Amino acid sequence: MTSSHGTDVRRVVVAFAAVQIRPRRDDDLDDLVGIAAAVQADSGYPHRSVTDLAAFVARPGAALAAWVAEDGGEVVGHVALHPTGSKEMSTVVRAAIGDGVPFGVVSRLFVSPAVRRRGTGRVLLETCTADALARDLVPVLDVSIHFGPANALYRACGYEPIGTASVPLRDGIVFEENVYRFVGG
Ligand SMILES: CC(C)(COP(=O)(O)OP(=O)(O)OC[C@H]1O[C@@H](n2cnc3c(N)ncnc32)[C@H](O)[C@@H]1OP(=O)(O)O)[C@@H](O)C(=O)NCCC(=O)NCCS
Repeated sequence: MTSSHGTDVRRVVVAFAAVQIRPRRDDDLDDLVGIAAAVQADSGYPHRSVTDLAAFVARPGAALAAWVAEDGGEVVGHVALHPTGSKEMSTVVRAAIGDGVPFGVVSRLFVSPAVRRRGTGRVLLETCTADALARDLVPVLDVSIHFGPANALYRACGYEPIGTASVPLRDGIVFEENVYRFVGG
């Protein structure tokens, strides 16, 4: 459908369709595992050594809070706020924000490859960041140095790099990460 100005109206409507963010429910898990599998194949997150995607997304007790993004009634993305991260990233965080300062870790952020670059990742991240701040936690996160879109998103949303960490995974694989804290702006 083309407007009198020559604009493709359907593309404009799709681009500005509001994404809804709501708390994650137990019955979201099947959808989220499906999306996580697509993201793992498309983007390498989580690392291919992670085979239990349900536990990766929503291990019971792992999160302080978690949210999903819905687009047209369909779950398309996820983020969680975790109380802890790896010991390697925690060392970087404590050196930057001070020992004993409480922090919350933005975790498990992913968006379906089918709906990328429509603002979904940004609203999920903003929701999680706001929740951490409301809990008086400094929002922090870690991300592979190789994940260009995620690093770009974090920098665009007020996160500042505070160091790097080398996190050993299974099978002798070492994950090289950037560590960020939220500074706003
Ligand atoms: C990172 C990710 C969540 C971004 O989701 P998204 O919905 O596509 O991101 P948004 O549309 O909200 O992008 C917001 C901003 O982030 C930056 N950004 C996002 N994707 C980008 C890309 N591919 N290239 C450059 N900048 C990008 C831009 O500044 C963008 O704003 P703009 O579109 O106005 O330029 C998504 O790419 C993803 O799921 N990646 C794989 C999983 C992953 O790496 N998760 C992080 C693990 S720590």
